Amino acid sequence: MAAQSRTQVGIIGAGPAGLLLARLLKVHGIDSVILEQRDRTYVEGRIRAGVLEQGMVALMEEAGVADRLHREGLVHDGVEIAVRGRPFRIDFRGLTGKAVVVYGQTEVTKDLITARLAGDGPIVWNADDVALHDVESARPLLSYHCEGERRELACDFIAGCDGFHGASRPSIPADKIAIYERVYPFGWLGILADVPPCSHELIYASHERGFALASMRSHTRSRYYVQCNLDDELDAWPDARVWDELKLRLGERAAAQITTGPSIEKSIAPLRSFVAAPMRHGRLFLAGDAAHIVPPTGAKGLNLAASDVHYLCRALVAHYRTGSDALLERYSDMALARVWKAERFSWWMTTMLHNLYDPTSFEAQMQLAELEYLAASQAAQTAMAENYVGLPY
Ligand code: APR
Ligand code: PHB
Repeated sequence: MAAQSRTQVGIIGAGPAGLLLARLLKVHGIDSVILEQRDRTYVEGRIRAGVLEQGMVALMEEAGVADRLHREGLVHDGVEIAVRGRPFRIDFRGLTGKAVVVYGQTEVTKDLITARLAGDGPIVWNADDVALHDVESARPLLSYHCEGERRELACDFIAGCDGFHGASRPSIPADKIAIYERVYPFGWLGILADVPPCSHELIYASHERGFALASMRSHTRSRYYVQCNLDDELDAWPDARVWDELKLRLGERAAAQITTGPSIEKSIAPLRSFVAAPMRHGRLFLAGDAAHIVPPTGAKGLNLAASDVHYLCRALVAHYRTGSDALLERYSDMALARVWKAERFSWWMTTMLHNLYDPTSFEAQMQLAELEYLAASQAAQTAMAENYVGLPY
């Protein structure tokens, strides 16, 4: 017999989605167990984008884990777009009254893990081979392998927060879920370096040589990206080449401000748009990357995980408080309505800013016209700003 335990919500995955959901549920008196495939060191070491919308910041406040975020996060009132080396600014604050906070996802994860382990409930690290059972019944079950034995976790609901490669989404029968996908024909080479950022705001650059992005983690740690080929090897990108490309692509003013230094992390990531619908099957609810992926242009991944969690938490609270499942029934539609708009925005930013077409093609001229319109039109800038700072929940 497998060792069995029970909880209200069984959460698969200790990424931002699973951790934030667990914390918010606890605030509302609902118990959960988190099953995480990897160990704590691995989860706390993953480097990902870190631009938080106000909605995400508000959820971190509601979760009681926003102190460090408020102390160390950098409030950004706008971004720069550089086209062929010439920058213009999108004034978020002026156009929308809102801003974003730059605070690494790694730090968000650490803050949530610290809070969870201070008494909220367990995170089962190294939970291998998680399997979902009876999700279409009122008594779903999770089984997993841990410390040399098979264990079972009985729950009322399962939250599939196990990211793009997790076990939740594939457990849904193929005829019950539709997949929408676009894979982009290039990658992002990212470097992290302990040097001051070249600008106090992010710079997104469209250039003949390819896209580039100047971002940061703090006043002393910078994060940069350059568009690269998907089959490029890291060996082909020694630090000196990355810095040279950044200087060319970001434009003269930024180039003059770049402090170079050894990279402390370097990786190549593919870009993908992906949506699985619906985000629910029986008592299994998908949230975050388990249900959708956006390309990183626009930094929406974490923020979409947050809005999913908001809708799901509210629906679970209603179930336990009032016995009404009306919000659970509407979870997928509500979450997807926001997901699709963020998908559109991320696809638009990606398509507008990257080298995608033969420079003599009609499409390349369309990209330039789009960028020139954005540079000159307050209406276009407002549309970009309201999406970047985050559409309402
Ligand atoms: N069993 C248990 N845990 C799993 C499994 C599995 N089969 N598969 C994956 N996991 C864990 C991963 O190790 C990871 O810790 O689920 C977690 C999923 O976390 P994320 O991939 O960070 O996904 P999510 O929490 O939805 O966060 C979305 O992450 O990828 C970024 O840009 C994205 O910022 C966004 C955020
Ligand atoms: C990052 O800092 O890693 C980052 C910022 C903005 C993006 C993508 C990534 O659009």
